[in-house]
Amino acid sequence: MKELIIPKVTQSSATSLPYPDNFFDVVFTDPPYYDNVPYSYLSDFFYVWLKRTVGDLYPELFSTPLTPKSKEIVAYTNNRTWEEAKAFFEENLKKSFQEIHRVLKPNGIATIVYAHKSTAGWETLINSLLDSGLIVTASWPVHTEMKARIRAIETASLASSIYFVARKMERKETGWYNDVKEEIKNHIYKKLERLWHEGISGADYFIAAIGSSIEIFGKYEKVMDYEGNIIRADKLLDFVRDMVTDYAVRQLLQNGIAGELSPLTKFYILWRWTYQEARVHFDDARKLAQSTGIDLASEWNKGFIKKDKEFIKVLGPHERDLKEVEKSNELIEVLHNVLVLWKEGKREDIKEVLQDSGWGNKDAFYRVAQAISETLHSESREKKLLDGFLSGKEKILSDLSAQAGMKDKDRQKRLF
Ligand SMILES: C[S@@+](CC[C@H](N)C(=O)[O-])C[C@H]1O[C@@H](n2cnc3c(N)ncnc32)[C@H](O)[C@@H]1O
Repeated sequence: MKELIIPKVTQSSATSLPYPDNFFDVVFTDPPYYDNVPYSYLSDFFYVWLKRTVGDLYPELFSTPLTPKSKEIVAYTNNRTWEEAKAFFEENLKKSFQEIHRVLKPNGIATIVYAHKSTAGWETLINSLLDSGLIVTASWPVHTEMKARIRAIETASLASSIYFVARKMERKETGWYNDVKEEIKNHIYKKLERLWHEGISGADYFIAAIGSSIEIFGKYEKVMDYEGNIIRADKLLDFVRDMVTDYAVRQLLQNGIAGELSPLTKFYILWRWTYQEARVHFDDARKLAQSTGIDLASEWNKGFIKKDKEFIKVLGPHERDLKEVEKSNELIEVLHNVLVLWKEGKREDIKEVLQDSGWGNKDAFYRVAQAISETLHSESREKKLLDGFLSGKEKILSDLSAQAGMKDKDRQKRLF
């Protein structure tokens, strides 16, 4: 007969586990994701009913009128400033990871799940992990969220979570940032390629790359630059973002023309790929802009970048009017101009804009239009305009070359 193993469930805060050192072969944890979900407040809904129905069977679990909240590791701003909330989260997550390190056997494995779309959410996780003694040896994005979630479109939600495998190992002492960057580059490019072919995109792609970078960065006790500054998560994230930006723009445009494009056009493509049509917190928008060489503050509320309180939105052609887009010869503005005209059925004006701007016979123009279309979901109004315009591309090109031919003939007539 097989031995019956009865699982034992205990309840305690993850910051002080009631187990001796070196006790577990495996620890699996799915900690709170920064400020994403107010679990304890949600639990109150069930707690009051459970307390009345099974409370007498488990009195130790129902001793308080509502769920206990003070030890909950979530970045809430209730009665605290944002900075305090962030520090509380980071400090307590670190304590929980240190506890995992303590209770794990020397050759044990810990798996930690995490997801967050903001840079601040990742900064805290990375710093907590680095300070815990655990070493991340692998990381993989796992598709855990439903695609059609109601919040998914407006808020650019993630489709995946990152699963980290961490171990209790000796760290290398000091890593020099320049060498570590090279090591991350070599490691990450292979992973970026693989994830790209597996169809991971946008914000999910960024977080998968962050996961991979920690596999290298976290091997060192500390990482320093040559001036003696200790490099923490904020710098690492800037570096990873630059690398992913560069890789993604080149892939989206199928190489070749990325170098010809202005920062503003690159920013637009990358934004659509990362966030589609969602509004995004200023801080994350600024970082994405920076990685394409744009100073967001000097661009917003001039053209397609709109700031509304602490959020940034990138307007599509259907949200702009003709007067606004006619002013510029920048590729992305000319594309918007053309798409506004397409929407209004002004086909002749489109040819004129393409001719006068000089973009009409340039491959880059149509490749950018195609790349943007590929980043958008099928119901997007912008995608429909782009696809409509692109379906008439051959006709436009032949009309433009016929017009150019006529002009040449006119010119020759005038010359002779
Ligand atoms: C991302 S959720 C995990 C959800 C879980 N995987 C599931 O499918 O139900 C994070 C959980 O951590 C719990 N939590 C928050 N602070 C904690 C603490 N100090 N100790 C233990 N658990 C905590 C939250 O209440 C929440 O249930």
